[in-house]
Amino acid sequence: MAKKLFIKTHGCQMNVYDSARMADVLAPLGYAKTETPDDADMVIINTCHIREKAAEKVFSELGHWRIRKQTAQARGGDVTIAVAGCVAQAEGEELVNRAPFVDLVIGSQAYHRLPELLARAERARVKGSGGPHAAGQGILATEFPAESKFDHLPDEISTAPGPVGYLAIQEGCDKFCTFCVVPYTRGAEYSRPAEAIIREAERLMATGVQEIALLGQNVNAWHGEGPDGSAWSLGRLLRVLNDRFAQSHPRLRWRYTTSHPREMDDDLIAAHGEVAGLMPFLHLPIQAGSDAVLKAMNRGHRAEDYLRIVEKLRAARPDLALSGDFITGFPGETDADFEQTLQLVREARYAAAYSFKYSARPGTPGSLLPKQVPDAVSTERLHALQALLQQQSEAFNRACEGRVLDVLFERPGRQPGQLIGRSQYMQAVYVSDPGLRIGDFLPVTIAGGYANSLAGEIARREAA
Ligand code: SAH
Ligand code: SF4
Ligand code: F3S
Repeated sequence: MAKKLFIKTHGCQMNVYDSARMADVLAPLGYAKTETPDDADMVIINTCHIREKAAEKVFSELGHWRIRKQTAQARGGDVTIAVAGCVAQAEGEELVNRAPFVDLVIGSQAYHRLPELLARAERARVKGSGGPHAAGQGILATEFPAESKFDHLPDEISTAPGPVGYLAIQEGCDKFCTFCVVPYTRGAEYSRPAEAIIREAERLMATGVQEIALLGQNVNAWHGEGPDGSAWSLGRLLRVLNDRFAQSHPRLRWRYTTSHPREMDDDLIAAHGEVAGLMPFLHLPIQAGSDAVLKAMNRGHRAEDYLRIVEKLRAARPDLALSGDFITGFPGETDADFEQTLQLVREARYAAAYSFKYSARPGTPGSLLPKQVPDAVSTERLHALQALLQQQSEAFNRACEGRVLDVLFERPGRQPGQLIGRSQYMQAVYVSDPGLRIGDFLPVTIAGGYANSLAGEIARREAA
């Protein structure tokens, strides 16, 4: 009988991708994915370490799984508990010590080793049962291997992802922003070769995906090897991918995320005006608008550099929807610095954005800086920033009223007969229509534009 695998995914899209790949690795061992945690034989908690709150979730969730395991064991069964992702990578030692009932702590670069590690966990359990190590520790696998995990992940996709597929083309970060854990949890920048990416795109399309999001912590730092042996740029890759599939999948949509301003070269900017399938949306975080804060963050660019990139992007693609990430209350940030963030937002004009209060992360240089900003100040700034960003996204969405947008429907809404899709600008679009199915890609007349979503109706029944 198939064993049931439940995966809980936190954090970014890279974790969503990794979770799918872990399921692919375990499928040949007889594990089938389940959406109901209660009948799982194995659970993987794929964790995020980016902010304190995200990391804390793991320990409270583990409490629940400990009880599930005990109950299963009392009945003569078991539940294998694995912790994966960035908390596993960053706090693996602590996890195996604090939570000895966890069978396996698996870092972000070791997913291809799951079968071997599971077999070891199994052996340890048999050996330990009843003996002095009955309550022994789980297995820890957090070293960074010399070879990329991508070379060892299986080709087979075990579960069709639905209308939107994720494809990791790059992993890791060499930027070392002083607030960020990612360079430590994901390791150095690595770019997959173009041919491996093209093959994975083909496999995704065979499952029926209609949109592919190319992923990387610094996706625009991708400089993978092309078939000719030279290093390609992301702009070139996007052109090749688009051309390659233009005949067989003329309506396929491409996106890429997340980009760093320092890697936004002219060729990639030009691609936004030239590559038909590339969506007019870009997530380009800046974090803050003050050059002093950007410097302290080690971002490697000034506010002005960012604004110039945005200007060039809009010259290449006038309707480009811009998105960003912001942090308020980075150590040393003054009221005047924060005012410059507001000013930058006014100039750049965002269609959407994520903003966070600075969270001091252990091991990062930022956590050691003097002049940590009091929580109340960071919170107040966050609220002021969010009010401005909300105004902008509402204005962007309201300007879409009356327009016909192309919507790919991805998931059910809360109301019966309602589905939620994404426009080319990445807006969530709600449509209620009895004939609508997930995977439909249809023109939608926008009736209402709100702060976080749009509502509309199907414009016509035929394809857009
Ligand atoms: N690689 C991407 C995203 C990294 S994490 C990039 O370079 O933009 C996603 C976002 O989380 C970041 O853009 C940043 O805004 C936020 N973030 C990262 N570390 C943080 C911290 N210590 N406190 C608050 N927000 C943080
Ligand atoms: Fe983190 Fe900066 Fe790297 Fe992005 S570029 S992952 S924010 S260190
Ligand atoms: Fe979180 Fe790791 Fe992604 S820290 S944001 S899961 S890279």
